[in-house]
Amino acid sequence: MRRKVTVVGAGFVGSTTAQRIVDRELADVVLTDVIEGVPAGRALDLLESTPIVGSDVQARGISTASGDYRETSGSDIVVVTAGFPRKPGMSRNDLLQANYGVVRTVVEAVVTQSPGAILIMVTNPLDAMAQAAWRTSGFPRERVIGMAGILDSGRMSTFVAQELGVSIDNVHALVLGGHGDTMVPLPRYTTVASIPLPELLPRERIEAIIQRTRDGGIEIVNLLRTGGAYYAPSAAVVEMVEAILKDQKKILPCSVLLEGEYGLRDVFVGVPVKLGARGVEQIVELNLSADERAALHGSAAAVRELVDVLGL
Ligand code: LAC
Repeated sequence: MRRKVTVVGAGFVGSTTAQRIVDRELADVVLTDVIEGVPAGRALDLLESTPIVGSDVQARGISTASGDYRETSGSDIVVVTAGFPRKPGMSRNDLLQANYGVVRTVVEAVVTQSPGAILIMVTNPLDAMAQAAWRTSGFPRERVIGMAGILDSGRMSTFVAQELGVSIDNVHALVLGGHGDTMVPLPRYTTVASIPLPELLPRERIEAIIQRTRDGGIEIVNLLRTGGAYYAPSAAVVEMVEAILKDQKKILPCSVLLEGEYGLRDVFVGVPVKLGARGVEQIVELNLSADERAALHGSAAAVRELVDVLGL
């Protein structure tokens, strides 16, 4: 059976997501954007790469300027990357109102075409936009998932591997919480060849890595000046896409609606979840210390502030 993934937004995150899906032969891809020409051009270019990379999938791009999303119908997964990006000096939260409008319009349209799809949200501010998508879609919480924890954990893993001069294969970092300044990197759950990080690095080096992880997004924005990161974000999205399409039951940190887990309710926040064909198949509850739990609750409160502004 052919699988179909729609990627909404043909910017750098959307385009590289489409490319990774095509390169790995995971699914047929429909790339959409409100601008004319660009999604069709990028998708055609991508399609013309398939004989060269040896990938037997389709890629098609459409403009949704007219509000016509019919090409996306019957998608197994819809990845929403559409929205305004950050500029230097902006926080993710500065995008709240503008991107809420984008997310609402997009989600209303795609769920009409693909009522059984799983939504993967990428638009910032991530957790609030995932919550907006969940509300707008009317989908069960299992089928609305925000991408952020894999990206933030990937950044932390990178910095740990650099600091210790070890293979990235040895490092497994874990970052929970909202995708913002209050994210919660967890050194105790970050391991290097199974050894917890606090046994390998002094406290101040760990603190420096935590701070660089928190600032990981803006570090890239400041270097690029226009737009933000896309290679690592798209890699993170595609790890989620693959886990779902292949029903891998893979445990990954993702932003999901909590309904009592971790003592939190009615808020999207990053926690470890099991991803499979049904979307979120389990929320994994860690035995957090009092400090870790307080940090997670603080991060959830920051998300809740944004969600309240939107009246969700
Ligand atoms: C970042 C953006 C995607 O963290 O929020 O790079």
